[in-house]
Amino acid sequence: MNASPSAGDPVQGRALVRSFGCGACHVIPGISEADGIVGPPLDRIAERAYLAGVLANTHENMVRWLRDPPAVDPATAMPKVEMSENQALHIAAFLYTLR
Ligand code: HEC
Repeated sequence: MNASPSAGDPVQGRALVRSFGCGACHVIPGISEADGIVGPPLDRIAERAYLAGVLANTHENMVRWLRDPPAVDPATAMPKVEMSENQALHIAAFLYTLR
């Protein structure tokens, strides 16, 4: 499992997760207002084998998923949130602190 941060800053990632409003749909440890139940809780996401049940949980795939979920799985309920590659790298680094 390549679920270790190779690039990206988890502190910036956490701030981005808050500003993008990911918590409207996800419970996210360490972010008190993140209590949404539309999507799965993101606790221990670093330890999971698959992302959304379709992609192996690697750093590269996480960035791909975050930038455009419907491109990965057209049936997914997670919308595309416009973000740069760098922003996705920061968010991935933050998510991989959740073990
Ligand atoms: C409108 C609701 C919604 C928003 C906003 C949203 N997500 Fe999701 N997310 C989902 C749903 C629904 C799934 C489950 C997708 C699936 O299995 O097809 C999901 C899945 C995921 C997964 C994979 C989880 C797993 O258990 O495999 C990650 C990681 C994730 N979201 C992160 C984020 C991040 C980071 C943001 C903010 C940039 C975000 N999501 C914004 C609804 C949302």
